[in-house]
Amino acid sequence: MASKLRYRSQYWFNDPSNIEATALYCAWHMNDGSTREELQSGKPIIGISQSGSDLTPCNKIHRQTVEAAKRGVKDAGGIPFVFPVHPIRESTRWPAASLDRNLAAMALIEILQEYPIDGVVFTTGCDGTTLASLMAAVVVNLPAIVLSGGPMLNGHFEGQRAGFGTTIREARRRLEAGQWTESQFFDAIVASAPSLGHCNTMGAALTMNSVSEALGMSLTGSAAIPAAYQERLQNAFETGKRAVELTEQNIRPLDILGREAFENAIVTLSAIGGSSSAHQHLTAVARHAGIDLPDALWMEKGYTVPLIANLQPVGEFLGEDFHRAGGVPAVMAELCKAGLLNGNSMTVGGRPLAACLKGHAIKDERVIRPFGRPLRAAPWQHVNGEDEAGA
Ligand code: FES
Repeated sequence: MASKLRYRSQYWFNDPSNIEATALYCAWHMNDGSTREELQSGKPIIGISQSGSDLTPCNKIHRQTVEAAKRGVKDAGGIPFVFPVHPIRESTRWPAASLDRNLAAMALIEILQEYPIDGVVFTTGCDGTTLASLMAAVVVNLPAIVLSGGPMLNGHFEGQRAGFGTTIREARRRLEAGQWTESQFFDAIVASAPSLGHCNTMGAALTMNSVSEALGMSLTGSAAIPAAYQERLQNAFETGKRAVELTEQNIRPLDILGREAFENAIVTLSAIGGSSSAHQHLTAVARHAGIDLPDALWMEKGYTVPLIANLQPVGEFLGEDFHRAGGVPAVMAELCKAGLLNGNSMTVGGRPLAACLKGHAIKDERVIRPFGRPLRAAPWQHVNGEDEAGA
């Protein structure tokens, strides 16, 4: 009978009931200079998914964040194992990357189930990378934490903020109207992507990373830190550390992703004016967790929430501004005060949501409006002040 080992990775590297397999597994993993002592130390092995590559430039910052996360894992007493993710890049992949979300999720599930990994840091960014990670997290249910790469810095062109995705619409209009040359057209679009990071508007990438934080799967305040800020690497270090602690405490995604977490995410999604694609994505993650999110629930929880984040494409500002204004925790703190969130929902921080939001507040009311002075009131308040349903 196999002995009871603390972490599953020890069944590969230190199983007294199967010395031959143990020696073979250790041999392969010692070929980079790792030692038997390390592999048999009983420390948790933390997988770090590398979602950045030349094919996924939105996530290329993870070449740096993964190094910082590895340092965090080691600092907390774990052993980092980095592995690649099937590339997902929304706007380069022909004809579309939707299929890749599921391919990546399936590959992540296989990797996490079949290799010696005790806990995992998922690196995310471009839309589908976050979804694939969350889908795999709930299926495999190993201790897990999401590390976003963060948005690009604010783009600027001819004195205006230039957001990736929104600028192209304006550039097309001006080119067609003869107001811009082809050279201005090209320069404006390039200016909207001024650094490493994912899209800097509240497009699907920033939406889904904000949703991940709202679900409790990322460290509080992490979603909107721009990729180019030093805080991003510091956050990666903390995320690596926290992955080890989560594994030691045996806190798993299904301990965090209950119905109330998804309801919190729906409410937050409305308040930030997130991408409409979040509906299908969040529904898919919930289904993998065995939770149904019917449209009636989206209407009940999301339809009546006012828009308080003034971010492109519906508003004015960009991801860097959002972070400086307080980011997701500032929005959620407003929603919590208004009684719209379940503060008892657990987070990867090991604390309930309400405790994580303590001390967070809006720092720039141009970017994040107070709940009582929204950018756009809830739809039911639009129809001459009357309830739309009753109108
Ligand atoms: Fe990848 Fe927007 S296209 S983040």
